[in-house]
Amino acid sequence: MREISTLRITILTGAGISAESGLRTFRASDGLWEDHRIEDVATPQGFAADPALVLRFYNERRAAARVAQPNAAHRALARLAARFPVTLVTQNVDDLHERGGSDEVVHMHGSLTGALCAECGHRWPAPAVMSPADRCPSCAAPATRPDIVWFGEIPYHMERIWQAVESADIFAAIGTSGQVYPAAALAQHAARAGAHTVELNLAASAVSHDFAEHLQGPASQVVDGWVRRLLGDAGA
Ligand code: APR
Repeated sequence: MREISTLRITILTGAGISAESGLRTFRASDGLWEDHRIEDVATPQGFAADPALVLRFYNERRAAARVAQPNAAHRALARLAARFPVTLVTQNVDDLHERGGSDEVVHMHGSLTGALCAECGHRWPAPAVMSPADRCPSCAAPATRPDIVWFGEIPYHMERIWQAVESADIFAAIGTSGQVYPAAALAQHAARAGAHTVELNLAASAVSHDFAEHLQGPASQVVDGWVRRLLGDAGA
């Protein structure tokens, strides 16, 4: 068995890790998808049909993320990565992992802090408020969009993510409902590659059966407890 502090840990987080920071999840009864149809605000077709609506949706989420604070779960993962080789993959587009002390965060669905030109592919830091009249700083086309991966688009960094899943000794999914692929397939892939899989969530998810271990409760408590246990075992 590998020396414990060299155990490679791959973590996938979802909206549930930011819920206690006050950011809305997607599929809860008060979720974001209760107020907006996904096809209207989170697809290239929705953006083409009504860019002002889509930019307004992300402006609101960017403003909410700006005032939210990282919680104990974000901070615990930063402590874990100081002691173990951790690959932190998130479906979240907020920057609470970074503000909670994590540096190498793999944003597979993009980030609210990024802007992208739909015309030339140029990327730059997103302004607080984006509008359809904005022009790309590089090609000047009026085609600026949030650097977010919409439904029907390919998630970012998948090569690196599959590699991290296949080489993990431990794979943990935190606060994700397991309803969106390819993220929802990572646990099964990790288990097949020999990782110990653990799901940390308030409730069962659509892929709970893919996990060997389940830690049920609010992320701020169960993630903190899980990290303390791992650090304790490593004599940290
Ligand atoms: N602590 C832990 N887990 C929580 C908490 C909490 N305080 N609150 C909610 N959860 C869990 C819920 O039980 C649920 O399993 O977080 C999960 C949230 O699920 P979703 O709202 O579906 O969010 P997520 O899984 O991140 O969605 C994945 O879908 O809409 C797309 O691109 C979007 O990245 C998003 C993707």
